[in-house]
Amino acid sequence: MANHPAQSAPFGSILAGHMAVAEYHDGAWGAFEVRPVAPLSLSPAAHVLHYGSTCFEGFKAYRHADGSVKVFRMEAHIERMRQSARSLVLPEPDAAQLREMVLAAIDRNRAEVPDAPGALYLRPMLIGTTPNIGAAATPSTSAMLIVLCSPVWDYFAGGAKPLRIYVEEHATRCAAHLGVVKTGGNYAAALGPTLAARKQYGVDQVLFCPGGEVQETGAANFLLIREGHILTRSLDSSFLHGVTRDSLLKVAPELGFKVEERVFTVAEMLEWVKTGEAALSGTAAVLSGVGTLIRDGQEFRVGDGGVGPNTQRLRAALVGLQQGTTPDTRGWLTAV
Ligand SMILES: Cc1ncc(COP(=O)(O)O)c(C=O)c1O
Repeated sequence: MANHPAQSAPFGSILAGHMAVAEYHDGAWGAFEVRPVAPLSLSPAAHVLHYGSTCFEGFKAYRHADGSVKVFRMEAHIERMRQSARSLVLPEPDAAQLREMVLAAIDRNRAEVPDAPGALYLRPMLIGTTPNIGAAATPSTSAMLIVLCSPVWDYFAGGAKPLRIYVEEHATRCAAHLGVVKTGGNYAAALGPTLAARKQYGVDQVLFCPGGEVQETGAANFLLIREGHILTRSLDSSFLHGVTRDSLLKVAPELGFKVEERVFTVAEMLEWVKTGEAALSGTAAVLSGVGTLIRDGQEFRVGDGGVGPNTQRLRAALVGLQQGTTPDTRGWLTAV
């Protein structure tokens, strides 16, 4: 599909025409419907608008060379959404219903799925709708679950520009127990420090390292990479357990990489990048190489400053699985 509109649009700025919608009332989810994307009707007293009762997901469906459309790791994203909902005491989406909603939304928007390296980005969102402005300490008993679809492009395909990253050792991305939850407030909390670093240092992203321990960026996980070795933070509640991170760590041993998951410090990272590589992993970032780290106003070049060969190799392996050019031996793809 030459010149797909997603190719020239910022990620997420175009919506496909239809969305799947379900509502929760009186202790149960109602049947969902797929309808044209249109403004929602919501009470100005809705719980989400005051108390931030919202969570969401982000994953992709790819059009393979044979024309079929396949979703990458849908089950893992549905489980993470359910876990986010439980953490926020929101009505938990039913896994089977959410699966059907995702597939129905993609099917309805099938003509808008770009060819590779584009994809249809899927955005399930859950909001608390109970109208009560005195419900700061009361959960929402009604909710709306919506699956939006957005044709996107892979801007990093074919030789990406290495990223500039600011190392933030003081500000935290979000409350420590909520890092693992994909909720809007976390992104609002990270925005101030991210914009400040962008303005001061012209960086692409901020790497949060509270207390000098490397954590993650505003919208991606962080990996240190070199020949035969990957180091990344071990899972805890302080950061989002990325499905891309998990996929890379599962594929890496087959490519000859030892995977090490543990807490590591900024000092250790700066030592590593003298000769090694660093990259961000996520649904949008896929695996994007870091060229420069900036700490306390000082610039540190990562390796030779370009996207390293091991990063490129891991990225190619992941993209091959997502786009169906390598066989799916793990059941990570769901046909639509
Ligand atoms: C804060 C944060 N960390 C990590 C990730 C990467 O997660 P995933 O690989 O599941 O997209 C994301 C993006 O979705 C994110 O928003």
